[in-house]
Amino acid sequence: MSKANIVFLNNKAMAELGAADMSAVINDVERVYVLNNEGDVIAPGKCVMRWGKTVEDENTLGRINAMPGYIGGEYDMAGIKWIGSGPQNYKKGLPRASVTIILNDPDTKLPLCVADGTEVSTMRTGASGGVAIKYLAKSDAKIMTICGAGAQAPTQLEAALIGRPSIDTVYVYDIRPENAERFAKATMEKYPHIKATAVSDIEAAVRESDIIDCVTLASEPFIKGEWLKKGTLVMNMADYEVDNECVKRSSKVVVDYWENVKHRMISTVALMWKDGLFKDEDLHAELGEIVKGAKAPRENDEEIIYFNAVGAGIMDIAVTARCYKNALKDGKGITLPYWE
Ligand SMILES: NC(=O)c1ccc[n+]([C@@H]2O[C@H](COP(=O)([O-])OP(=O)(O)OC[C@H]3O[C@@H](n4cnc5c(N)ncnc54)[C@H](O)[C@@H]3O)[C@@H](O)[C@H]2O)c1
Repeated sequence: MSKANIVFLNNKAMAELGAADMSAVINDVERVYVLNNEGDVIAPGKCVMRWGKTVEDENTLGRINAMPGYIGGEYDMAGIKWIGSGPQNYKKGLPRASVTIILNDPDTKLPLCVADGTEVSTMRTGASGGVAIKYLAKSDAKIMTICGAGAQAPTQLEAALIGRPSIDTVYVYDIRPENAERFAKATMEKYPHIKATAVSDIEAAVRESDIIDCVTLASEPFIKGEWLKKGTLVMNMADYEVDNECVKRSSKVVVDYWENVKHRMISTVALMWKDGLFKDEDLHAELGEIVKGAKAPRENDEEIIYFNAVGAGIMDIAVTARCYKNALKDGKGITLPYWE
């Protein structure tokens, strides 16, 4: 008789248990923003284990990040996201990112569940972008440019379309044009009402766009602030993708978690903060303050808004906790005796 069990949930089980349901994941992510704002979380910084000596090495040699956390409220769950990034994996036909999530009982601290979190990670990152779009994009946003047509792009778009169903034109830009072509084609197959085009002239696309969503591996900015039209939401979802002018021209600078942004020190606003070009008091809000109603969302169609997200393990833990509770209810997953 086992004194403690662990439930193993692979990718298929996780999708069936609710990890693939974008509206539910957006709800999880909004709740995480609010619970974080209320202090009902424990979210230590991300521990980065990188190969090589520099950030550039990280982009070729890879890293594995550990993101532990506890999320309260209806989730009441502890755990850790352990995410590997192998930038050369595509040569082996494998995705760059692989995610394992361990859930722990917040009372006994024993492990309860080991789950594949690869889809959770892209879904919750899409949802985080979707929540930003819900509160920060123009209400009638029509044109969106997605930069970086990799694993994150489909969920960024899926969540954006929930936040702004008015989007009817999508430009896709990628340093590898074949990726942009593939994603534009897949987008039109999945959403026949959308005109999706792979573009090489990023300036022309940006000049037209209401939303610019960057999910690349760039370590040099390729979006210039001088190109932004009034009313644009610029989303810096990954590293150093947009220039300082994008931040300077923004009437509101919003981040997901300011301490994490500074700890990660890889996005435009973080690097500006390090150089003394952006101060703590220049930050308009963390997104959770806006979701809770403590700070203003977009106030008119003129303002340019910059949003930066680095993510937090508590988002993945919340989504996985919901799936795990569904697994217990439905008797799904493989139960392994942990201590016999
Ligand atoms: N903010 C968050 O919470 C969060 C969560 C997960 C991933 N991310 C970040 O999102 C980024 C994308 O992740 P992914 O899983 O989609 O990666 P991926 O490797 O699957 O795709 C990245 C895409 O970006 C393209 N690209 C790389 N450099 C570029 C450049 N300079 N200009 C234009 N395109 C470029 C690549 O060709 C590729 O198609 C990563 O940097 C990752 O760290 C952020």
